[in-house]
Amino acid sequence: MSEKIYAAFRSIGAYVPKKVLTNQDLEKMVDTSDEWIVKRTGIKERHIAEDNESTSDMATKASEIAIKRAGLSAKDIDLVVCATVTPDYFNMPSTACLISDKLGIKNVQAFDISAACSGFVYALSVAKAFIESAMKKNVLVIGAEKFSSIIDWNDRNTCVLFGDGAGAAVIGATTNKEEAFIDVHASADGSYWDFLITPAPGSVNPATHAAIEEGLQFVKMKGNETFKLAVKTLTKDVKEILAKNNIEGKDIPHFVPHQANYRIINAVGNALNMSENQVVLTVHKYGNTSAASIPMAINDIYESGKLKSKELMLLDTFGGGLTWASALIPFAPKEND
Ligand code: COA
Repeated sequence: MSEKIYAAFRSIGAYVPKKVLTNQDLEKMVDTSDEWIVKRTGIKERHIAEDNESTSDMATKASEIAIKRAGLSAKDIDLVVCATVTPDYFNMPSTACLISDKLGIKNVQAFDISAACSGFVYALSVAKAFIESAMKKNVLVIGAEKFSSIIDWNDRNTCVLFGDGAGAAVIGATTNKEEAFIDVHASADGSYWDFLITPAPGSVNPATHAAIEEGLQFVKMKGNETFKLAVKTLTKDVKEILAKNNIEGKDIPHFVPHQANYRIINAVGNALNMSENQVVLTVHKYGNTSAASIPMAINDIYESGKLKSKELMLLDTFGGGLTWASALIPFAPKEND
């Protein structure tokens, strides 16, 4: 009988655009204040891509780093999955195809996942399934967003919250159970479909002059309702994944929550009795980068030397759909085999 194959989190990389948009900059654009934004969200600044910098450009840069850190080259990648709700082109081609082309990856399956802020963890669940079923060996999983491209810069309810960026990870096959993903849980409740929505372009509202004039291409959000559901759902989800795997919150060195709002992160962290040094926080400097938020946060702790081989990460996220997901994954770089 052949040995069981598991998925292992081999490497991480990220790309953050240079341009910084501070709360003080936003004060000049809409009726808001640094004090309000910091108090309600924890965000101080966010990075914004250049006009000529696309989601796939940022994703390619993050992917190059992740592939190199995995000790691989582009030819070793046998599946490319990109989580994004701000693709280079709505409809087609997929951003994953564009990233593959920019990386020089040919004749390899590539597709996008649309699960808003939950996209990266959704993509991890796909990588795990492909690897454990022995269909693929090295999966490039990307979360990348140019959220600034769907923001109405006159809408203070949304424009202060989001930022741009990309993160990527290589998920590889292993027979060593110690390196394996412990669990990934992903879920959705489509009855809340209108809590976070870009109404156009799409089959309901094609890109007509009227749709554009109405601003239907911009993100609309029921912020307060989303906030309350996020706290409730995430707390329940994270408690469930820990209990199911007989792991206690205190045993998690790196709790990496989706970086949407400091108050959501704090409420979930408190419900799990997490101490401050367990909780990874980047929301103050990147804002909400949707599918890129978790891999960018993992990259931050990796580059600052805090994330060590074999250390456990608890990921949790919540986003449009509504979707949510959590995961228990040890960091398993190859050189430590
Ligand atoms: N500056 C100043 N005032 C603002 C503002 C801004 N940028 N944005 C909203 N306000 C105002 C509102 O107009 C409202 O005014 P009113 O009471 O006169 O109507 C007031 O602040 C309170 O708005 P409310 O929406 O109740 O605030 P809140 O405490 O819920 O905070 C969010 C707003 C958006 C920060 C918060 O709801 C949130 O983070 N939601 C979740 C967002 C999220 O995670 N989205 C992505 C899912 S991953």
